[in-house]
Amino acid sequence: MKILLTGGLGYIGSHTCICLKEAGHDTVVIDNLCNSKISVKDNIEKITGSEIAFYEGDIRDRGFLRDVFQREQRKQKIDAVIHFAGHKAVADSVEEPIDYFENNIAGTIDLLAVMEEENIRNLIFSSSATVYDPKSPVPYKENDPKSPVNPYGETKYIIERMLCSLAASKPSWNIVILRYFNPAGAHKSGLIGEDPGGIPNNLFPYILKAAKGELPALSVFGNDYPTPDGTGVRDYIHVSDLAEGHMAALKTMLTGRGEENPTVYNLGTGRGYSVLEIIEAFEKTNNVKVPYMIAARRAGDIAWSFASTEKAKKELHWETTRGIYDMCRDIWRFGQEDLV
Ligand code: NAD
Ligand code: UD1
Repeated sequence: MKILLTGGLGYIGSHTCICLKEAGHDTVVIDNLCNSKISVKDNIEKITGSEIAFYEGDIRDRGFLRDVFQREQRKQKIDAVIHFAGHKAVADSVEEPIDYFENNIAGTIDLLAVMEEENIRNLIFSSSATVYDPKSPVPYKENDPKSPVNPYGETKYIIERMLCSLAASKPSWNIVILRYFNPAGAHKSGLIGEDPGGIPNNLFPYILKAAKGELPALSVFGNDYPTPDGTGVRDYIHVSDLAEGHMAALKTMLTGRGEENPTVYNLGTGRGYSVLEIIEAFEKTNNVKVPYMIAARRAGDIAWSFASTEKAKKELHWETTRGIYDMCRDIWRFGQEDLV
């Protein structure tokens, strides 16, 4: 198959691109490099031993998109699009909500419009567990109430709603929505991973930098939550498992889907780890110290989040195979790469 990935040089897109290439599919990648580097392309090619078709540009530029689709379709039909491109930092979205509406929502509308023009109607969309109502009990099931609490989450939910309306009006669209839980880890080669730059907001990238001595001690945001050790519990999923989840979703979408359209799947492990458990796992796996201190709760955080994985298991025949130690080991290995 030939699959086009928007945002394909980003953290999750690059791992999915590797999986697709390794399974023998053709890939076309579009990225404006606003949150990734061109060296990721070279590393994907190094890992897979084959070239990828890459177009640098913005999905909000319809002329550019049209040109890429037409040029690629002349060679071979594009079977599906996986839409990763977007902004994803919750705190930034509170600072600059219009930027998030523009890039995530307007960008998706531009992509949908050009796909419709070009008769490509198979789409996988990257959504997030952040759309769930934090008051719902865990594990979150796909049909649980939604109530995003920040502009980033709003953009994901609005796009989900748009995709529902689109599929209802035009059933020739074939859409899968994937709600990721907390992606972590890196490619086993150590060449590809998450490089947020600056001071990371997310737990794993911060732990990596604190363990390397590049940042001061990790602040553990609250130890008075109603969890076993008082720290927040999350469903961390290895990014390579997540990438394989896309392969499974693609297969189900293009071969044997049911009535539901869009079909929504949680991609998580179904198990949560606390912040202190993650620190301990990281220290043990890599034989390093993670300096930390207990700090106040972070605004907007919740005690628990983890996925119900039943639907993905049953319908996608997919489940995670990597654990927390794999995530700790792989992110550390990736973290050593930029020392050389
Ligand atoms: P990322 O920032 O690493 O990757 C996104 C890529 O899209 C980047 O390479 C960026 O340069 C590109 N991009 C952004 N806007 C673009 C535009 N207008 N035109 C072209 N390219 C553009 O993020 P990621 O972690 O790989 O996330 C991928 C998707 O998954 C995002 O939509 C994100 O919201 C969603 N998601 C991520 C997480 C997470 O924790 N990483 C969790 C849930 C959902
Ligand atoms: C956050 C986003 C979510 C996004 C996800 C990506 C919020 C409210 N939610 O989720 O939309 O999809 O990232 O992975 O921002 N922690 C610390 N110290 C730190 C950093 C984090 O103690 O320096 C704790 C947090 O309180 C939380 C856990 O670690 O309990 C995970 O935090 P983080 O990696 O930021 O992810 P989420 O908050 O779950």
